[in-house]
Amino acid sequence: MTEAEAQQRGGYAEDVSAERLAEIGLRFEVDGEIATITLDRPDRRNAQTFATWSALARIGESLPEQVRVVVVKGEGPSFSAGIDLRMFTPEGVPGQGSFSSAVNVGDAEFEQRIRQAQAGFLWLRRPEIVSVAAVHGHAIGAGFQLALACDLRIVADDVAFCMKEPALGLVPDLTGTKPLVELVGLAKAIDICLTARTVHADEAMRIGLAEKVVAGGDLAQAVRDKVAELLSTNRDAAAATKRLLQGARSRTLEEQSVAEGLEQAARLKALFP
Ligand code: ACO
Repeated sequence: MTEAEAQQRGGYAEDVSAERLAEIGLRFEVDGEIATITLDRPDRRNAQTFATWSALARIGESLPEQVRVVVVKGEGPSFSAGIDLRMFTPEGVPGQGSFSSAVNVGDAEFEQRIRQAQAGFLWLRRPEIVSVAAVHGHAIGAGFQLALACDLRIVADDVAFCMKEPALGLVPDLTGTKPLVELVGLAKAIDICLTARTVHADEAMRIGLAEKVVAGGDLAQAVRDKVAELLSTNRDAAAATKRLLQGARSRTLEEQSVAEGLEQAARLKALFP
């Protein structure tokens, strides 16, 4: 992609250059229809900051159109240890403030900052892509929520999910509460969040948090296999089907049947012009 094309795609070159991402602790690679986002600050257990979330949002905005599958993974021993704990200190994260400074910015600006952070997570549900979290080791707080933002979670047998926020006086606000309830049910979500306990691989598999558990050394291959399966179906039919599945919960059976018919009519017109 040329610089000019990149600018047209929302400032790709400027905002998600490899150099800028490296400063933030992220890597972003595109190989044909597959994009891979790597949390890459292993010495801090891939702790996340506002800069991480802004960069994730920019990646989403500038995602090349050919991408069908987005893999999110972590470098080092943990997927992510959640928010950078320096946010709880008076000094905060250099250039990004702290929680104590954030409460003084006024309600509207605070709300805006949270929405900007959430934008880094929301795009991973787009119908045009399937997002796959490859999760190993700790996935705590924002790390757990990033895994929940993805459509599928393939996990290593050492995975340790923990929604730590309530233990720290916070709520999970990075778009994780809805998928958690939808995946495991309200009672189990209350149990997991309000105790801030750790969910290990066997339970994650049993309650529907994980699609598959593999030995740590097999995680990359298991993800490659799933990606290949996902790419084996028709791109437009996959997007239309994801739209239908995502809307199913909020529609009645009658409404869902109508939606299926409309999507199918569009598919048939595309297949037999
Ligand atoms: N923010 C900033 N630095 C971190 C974070 C974090 N969230 N997590 C780990 N680090 C740093 C440690 O301070 C340590 O730094 P040091 O080498 O300078 O001492 C380094 O990463 C390695 O961490 P260890 O604790 O030594 O690694 P270990 O593998 O023993 O433990 C674990 C990993 C369990 C993830 C532990 O680091 C931990 O509990 N981290 C904090 C988790 C947390 O409370 N996150 C906030 C959740 S709430 C939210 O996300 C909104």
